[in-house]
Amino acid sequence: MDLKQLIQASAQELDQAKVAFGHGTLTAHDEAAWLVLWQLHLPLDLDLTEDLSKLQDQVSLFHSDFNLATLSVEQVRACQELIEKRIQTRKPAAYLTREAWLQGIPFYVDERSIVPRSFIAELIADGAFDSWLSETSHSFLDLCTGNGSLAVLCAMAYPEIEVTGSDISTDALAVAKINVEKHQLSDRIQLIESDGMKGLSQSFDCIICNPPYVCEASMQILPKEYKAEPLLALAGGVDGMDFIRQLFVDLPERMNDKAILVLEIGNEREHFEVAFPELEAIWLDTSSGEDQVVLITKEAFMKTLHKAKCDAL
Ligand SMILES: C[S@@+](CC[C@H](N)C(=O)[O-])C[C@H]1O[C@@H](n2cnc3c(N)ncnc32)[C@H](O)[C@@H]1O
Repeated sequence: MDLKQLIQASAQELDQAKVAFGHGTLTAHDEAAWLVLWQLHLPLDLDLTEDLSKLQDQVSLFHSDFNLATLSVEQVRACQELIEKRIQTRKPAAYLTREAWLQGIPFYVDERSIVPRSFIAELIADGAFDSWLSETSHSFLDLCTGNGSLAVLCAMAYPEIEVTGSDISTDALAVAKINVEKHQLSDRIQLIESDGMKGLSQSFDCIICNPPYVCEASMQILPKEYKAEPLLALAGGVDGMDFIRQLFVDLPERMNDKAILVLEIGNEREHFEVAFPELEAIWLDTSSGEDQVVLITKEAFMKTLHKAKCDAL
């Protein structure tokens, strides 16, 4: 069996078993390719649209005796076992490989934290909210940091800033610590255990946050792959807005002048707009459309607070 045949056969198995995707890949073929390439210690970014001989040339550069055209029985068996594990456990592939990639950067991950897949990662890479920042924007907060990936990407993208990564989960913070150390950023990223803003004493210029926002109805029908992740990372109450409601009470006074909040809300834009009808929200364009991530300025928060006070008079 050759590499492409093995990936094809593995994809068919994943399809037939009706596993769910969304933790780094969106199709059975991509998921099969990821698991097979990882198991064979091949580069995950091999361009599988190339024919086998071209792939062989690339692989031979660093694995001189690796034959893609005739994989050994042991190689095929090891890949089949991994695919079988994916099907039987219904765990996201990243929990099996202990690795997730965001914007080309590898992160350690295990069941103590959610598999990172935030759209905020692409916004950081594209500089999508740079025009709201200034030379004085130094203190960033990655609120609900999980495995710390967004904090790491911020520190990499903005070499002058200091980043705080906070989370209520000591388990998630232990994973974040691994990633901060893996990327040698311990001198620029501090990790703090905190329930929302409660355990944080500082004020910030830029807050990024991918909070638990999945509404109750969606929680009920989540595929098993998502139930393998910490419940705390996903469930956001009846309308998904529980965490965000409290955040909007606590956050404004902890935002420096001209500070911004970049907040991911997934598929909950409707719930967000019902919950916060007066708030000036700027929807940022992501690869999944314009309703996943919202930017809110300190000014917008202050306007809403001012209006609420006037209305109460
Ligand atoms: C959707 S995950 C995001 C993780 C990471 N930022 C990412 O994008 O992959 C939400 C995170 O919020 C944390 N969390 C839940 N409730 C919290 C709270 N009240 N205060 C702080 N963090 C909380 C969870 O532990 C989880 O790590």
